[in-house]
Amino acid sequence: MNLTLKVWRQSGPQDKGRMVTYRVEDISPDMSFLEMLDVLNERLILEGDDPIAFDHDCREGICGMCGMVINGVAHGEQRATTTCQLHMRHFEDGAEITIEPWRAAPFPVVKDLVVDRSAFDRIIQAGGFVSVPAGSAPDAHSVPVRKDDADAAFDAATCIGCGACVAACPNGSASLFTAAKITHLSLLPQGQPERLSRAKAMVDQMDSEGFGGCTNTGECTAVCPKGIPLDTIARMNADYLKANSK
Ligand code: SF4
Ligand code: FES
Repeated sequence: MNLTLKVWRQSGPQDKGRMVTYRVEDISPDMSFLEMLDVLNERLILEGDDPIAFDHDCREGICGMCGMVINGVAHGEQRATTTCQLHMRHFEDGAEITIEPWRAAPFPVVKDLVVDRSAFDRIIQAGGFVSVPAGSAPDAHSVPVRKDDADAAFDAATCIGCGACVAACPNGSASLFTAAKITHLSLLPQGQPERLSRAKAMVDQMDSEGFGGCTNTGECTAVCPKGIPLDTIARMNADYLKANSK
């Protein structure tokens, strides 16, 4: 495959940034999107140019590090797929592809396609945990959990913290991420003692980081590689309301 790439290049946080056009040739349809960028970067290095900076780690769709806006869609148009799991066979030979970083004020660009997502870490630090009294571990299966609660908690726990939901939201809201992190604990017995204080602390931290409010546009769930559903946000809002009316 031969492709034309229009890639956001920004040397650092203070640089204004610009789109730069590159031609890439002889790309295998079996390559992942990141492998295609690796090919371009190897060429840029050989030519003495600065390679394109982008985040990645597992390349298996589980770590949440990768993420870029491809042709205007966070992680690209392939549903429920991270950028690292997106393969070039989903593009036409000769296609023009635009590649940009997540764009949201709380995710400032570090360089090129790399953004600072430490705001997510601070939301987790505000309450994304359970406090466990010291002592021996309880016996397995000693705390019964309803199957549908366990399933819903597990589904919420599949959030990989990639930030695509924020990038896709017209309000730059982190509600889907925060709700997923709240929900995977709030549905389980271990998460009950701190349930309301957790929701309040994490939502307040989300707001203080500068993320926008949710207006139910649903763009977040449409791009989420893990298919976190919109009703997760409703559950978070209910807990937040209860926490503030106590
Ligand atoms: S909710 Fe989905 S899109 Fe948002 S951070 Fe989690 S996995 Fe990524
Ligand atoms: S590199 Fe880990 S999810 Fe893509």
